[in-house]
This record gives sequence, structure tokens and C-alpha cells, in this order.
Amino acid sequence: MNKNFLEENFGLTNKVALITGGHRGLGASIARCFAEAGADIIIADICPEDEATSILNEIESQGVNSSFYNVDVSKKSRVENMVNNIIEKYKKIDILVNNAGIANTGKAEDIPKEDFDKVLDINLKGTLYCCQAVGRQMIKQNFGRIINISSYWGITGNPGGVSYSVAKGGVISMTKVLATEWGPHNITVNAIAPGYIKTDMTEWVWGNKDIYDYVTDRIPLKNRLGTPKEVGLVVTFLASNAASYLTGILIPIDGGLLVQAGKLKWFLDADDKEGGN
Ligand SMILES: NC(=O)c1ccc[n+]([C@@H]2O[C@H](COP(=O)([O-])OP(=O)(O)OC[C@H]3O[C@@H](n4cnc5c(N)ncnc54)[C@H](O)[C@@H]3O)[C@@H](O)[C@H]2O)c1
Repeated sequence: MNKNFLEENFGLTNKVALITGGHRGLGASIARCFAEAGADIIIADICPEDEATSILNEIESQGVNSSFYNVDVSKKSRVENMVNNIIEKYKKIDILVNNAGIANTGKAEDIPKEDFDKVLDINLKGTLYCCQAVGRQMIKQNFGRIINISSYWGITGNPGGVSYSVAKGGVISMTKVLATEWGPHNITVNAIAPGYIKTDMTEWVWGNKDIYDYVTDRIPLKNRLGTPKEVGLVVTFLASNAASYLTGILIPIDGGLLVQAGKLKWFLDADDKEGGN
């Protein structure tokens, strides 16, 4: 294995990365992977700083720098202040990962305005505010990598998930628009759509055997949930030089959940192998 090849194409040495919602779950895993690849990491999260101590220590143990900013991404002026502070301290931001997000459920005909607004404010508008504040700096730098965390639910329609699906679908559209606007500034903007990954957010799946069996039965790849590291590694690739000619794309990370349209398994089991239409 040629280490120079790996470092040059997949490494993030000397890069400065801002990860929203990075204190746990997918954000923390992305931070771990980036730190291992050599990037300095800034975590921006609504949680108190002491809750992020353990991930910040892990990052620093890789020999890179880390910072924490307590911010609610749905507050535009707070996001702008934070980004100004980061630029003052680090002089640049190479990578932005818009990962902060929440979900809620409810029937579309009943969902309260406040619930709908909250999910859109954080997942969709928060992503825009961070892209705007960081994007202005990336345009000046003539370099940037933005990775937006959408969702399988942003592609599919799921009963009971109107706020989340609308927000994550909007993130996909935003990714495409920004990719076209900022491509000439050497900024790539891509999105990922995780399926079911084992984090606190999906405890309702892995914490309930019936739901777990139902969900994993529909996941072709190994019939299991994904791990945060399996997401972190793909995001690291999108942030690296290896992905320099990719922009405006959406990568599902879902073990094949999306490409399996239902479970019409009886074709496999049928005696008449010439069946079909
Ligand atoms: N886990 C999955 O299976 C899955 C699947 C698809 C998409 N996603 C998306 O991935 C992202 C991370 O999910 P996760 O599973 O790690 O969830 P999580 O709940 O474990 O982590 C979410 C993080 O966002 C932070 N956060 C919440 N509101 C915030 C705000 N207003 N401002 C700043 N930070 C805020 C939380 O403190 C937390 O650190 C989310 O955008 C989620 O929608 C997750």
C-alpha cells in the first residue's frame, strides 16, 4: 500500500472542518473519521460543551486541533457570529458538514404548525444558514467541500413523517442548487441519504424487536442497521481530493433499502422460473 497515494487522495491533513451536530451519533463519527484523516475539527452543537468533552478528547488524541461552539443552527445571527469567530481563529474553513437534525412524527392532517416549523427550521433552514455563512468564506478561498446530511426519508414518502421528509427532501434540492451556483468557485456540494443507522435517533427501531425485524428484513445488505462509521467513511471520501469532480450528487447509505422496491420474494421461490410479465 502506497501511503503517499492514500494521504494525497484520501487524507485531510491541514484541512479545517466544521461539523454541525457533532457531539454524538453520525456527527461524532464523521468527526472521528476526519480527525484520523488529519483535519482540525470544529464541532457546533446545541448541547452544552461538557457533553462534547469525550468526542473532543478523542479528536485531540489523533494529534489534531478541536474546538466547540454552542450554537442552535436555526438561529441565523448565531450561526453568522460563530462562523466569523471560526474564520478569525482558523483563517479558513475547508469543509462544512451540515449534520445537525431532529425528527418528529405525526399525521399530515394534524401536524401542529410549531412541530412542522421546528423540523424545517433546524434541518432545512439551519443547513441554509450554515451554507450561506461558510459559503461566503469558501468563495473567497476559491475552495470548499460541503456535505449535507439528508435522509432516505427525504427521497421516499413515509406515512407519519411529513415534516422530516419535506425538510430532508429540501436539503437534496438545496444541494443541487448550491452545487450549480458555487461550482465555478471550486466548491463541491454533495449530500448523503442514510437509511437506518444505529444512533440515539433510531432507538425506536433498534430498541424494539418487532420494528427492528420489520426494518432489517427489508435491508438487502446483511439484514442489519448501518453503523455510524459506515457513514463517516463515505463523508470523509466526499471531503477528500478523491471526490474533487463530484458535485450535486446524493449518495444513499442504506444497505440497499432504496433499491429494493418491496419484497416480491416469490419470484425467487416460484417453481415456474419462466414467470413474470
Ligand atoms: N441515524 C439515522 O439512521 C439517520 C438516518 C438518516 C438521516 N439522519 C440524519 O443524520 C443527522 C444525524 O443524526 P443522528 O442519528 O446522529 O442523530 P442524533 O440525534 O444522535 O444527533 C443529532 C445531533 O444534532 C444536534 N442538534 C440538534 N438540534 C440542533 C440544533 N438546533 N443546532 C445544533 N445542533 C443540533 C444534537 O445535539 C445532536 O448532537 C441528522 O440530520 C439526521 O436527520 C440520521
